[in-house]
Amino acid sequence: MKSIVILVSGRGSNMEAIVRAAIPGTRIAAVVSNRPDAQGLAFAAAHGIATRVVDHRVHADRVAFDAALAEAIDAHAPDLVVLAGFMRILTDGFVRRYAGRLLNIHPSLLPSFPGLHTHRRALEAGVRVHGATVHFVTDQLDCGPVVIQAVVPVRADDDEAALAARVLAQEHRIYPQAVRWFVAGRLAIGADGRVRVAGEADPGPGWTVPPLGG
Ligand code: GAR
Repeated sequence: MKSIVILVSGRGSNMEAIVRAAIPGTRIAAVVSNRPDAQGLAFAAAHGIATRVVDHRVHADRVAFDAALAEAIDAHAPDLVVLAGFMRILTDGFVRRYAGRLLNIHPSLLPSFPGLHTHRRALEAGVRVHGATVHFVTDQLDCGPVVIQAVVPVRADDDEAALAARVLAQEHRIYPQAVRWFVAGRLAIGADGRVRVAGEADPGPGWTVPPLGG
């Protein structure tokens, strides 16, 4: 049984998608938030998952906050730590501690649009496709070996909310898939820094994400 700790800062819909996926061989050991008012905490508690708040505002600096966060996480000795809308910049030390077992989801096709307001920036840039990326976390913000991406079209009449909703639906599909692969031991980061998904056929030209269902 693989143990997973999920970190959230707000709504928690990606956490919810992972919990609802009920991935065989996994146990969501805890949901941890840096914000006491994070909506996601209520969902987790209602599903019998341990919850914990590590409020960043009561810690003097990032190092102190990350140390407290690591303590809360390590209490559950997780095999995997999942950032699901966790909106804090993490210290290098924290990232190193969980190297190879720390995943993040970002609402853009990285390396395009790291940071905030990705949907607004995609609309402003006039891109024709947009999407979401699950990646292993490195010490660079919204950067790291890509596990899976989903692409959505940008429509002429899109506003930020419409585009965000289209992307979010895909986030809820690809994040559980990435976790499924991880816990099945199918993800490896090659010497070239790229993620290989064991047993996944080369999707061939025309595909922008590996075929699902593996
Ligand atoms: C998601 O869209 C996620 O990709 C994004 O925050 C949202 C959280 O929603 N994360 C980032 O921007 C990280 N850089 P959720 O709380 O409903 O999962």
